[in-house]
Amino acid sequence: MISETVEPTETLWNRFVRTFGGKQKAGANPYNLGFQRDIQWFQRAEVALSLLQSIGPVNSVADIGCADQKIGVLLKSKGIQAVYQGLDIVPQSPEVIACDIRRDDLPSYFDVAMVLGVLEYVENPTAALARLRPKVGHLIVSHVAREQNLNVTLEKQARLGWTTFVHTQAFEEMLTSAGFQVKTSVLTPDQRTRVWLCVA
Ligand SMILES: C[S@@+](CC[C@H](N)C(=O)[O-])C[C@H]1O[C@@H](n2cnc3c(N)ncnc32)[C@H](O)[C@@H]1O
Repeated sequence: MISETVEPTETLWNRFVRTFGGKQKAGANPYNLGFQRDIQWFQRAEVALSLLQSIGPVNSVADIGCADQKIGVLLKSKGIQAVYQGLDIVPQSPEVIACDIRRDDLPSYFDVAMVLGVLEYVENPTAALARLRPKVGHLIVSHVAREQNLNVTLEKQARLGWTTFVHTQAFEEMLTSAGFQVKTSVLTPDQRTRVWLCVA
């Protein structure tokens, strides 16, 4: 349950952008990281954090495809006591572990793995998720719901570099095929992305 004293998203986001910088050069790399300070990415992280809080206290969080580690920043700002580890195929700072979710295992067990805005860039999410499952207690994962993004043509999908862009039901089938049990899911405020909480 989110505490009532929590800062509103816009205030938190403004503070985050002031501290870490604002809009970056769009299209600077294949994962659309030019948009990593956009409020929609921040709102997705906030939805993920509220799902994390619904689990109860956790000791460790792995943020796979962490980019600028906004989950780590949010954990701190909300006073959530958990060891945070960012991992990414393109580490943006030295404390981030280099990791390709398509072939690398997590270095140790984590209570929760967050995978936000990553599986769109992975050709076979089911295989990646199935390898991840024995190393985590819970999974919080997002996917842009195809039925909520009817303006994304094949051309735009190619431009975005998304190799996986499926309907909500198809994505849930991937989660269950990988052995995860879906507990709940929430749409982001812009109604474009769904975030799932699953048990391994
Ligand atoms: C759209 S960004 C999302 C970043 C972050 N999770 C967020 O919500 O702000 C995708 C991130 O996933 C990373 N990524 C892409 N493919 C990956 C892979 N195969 N393994 C690990 N990270 C990957 C990219 O480097 C990038 O940081």
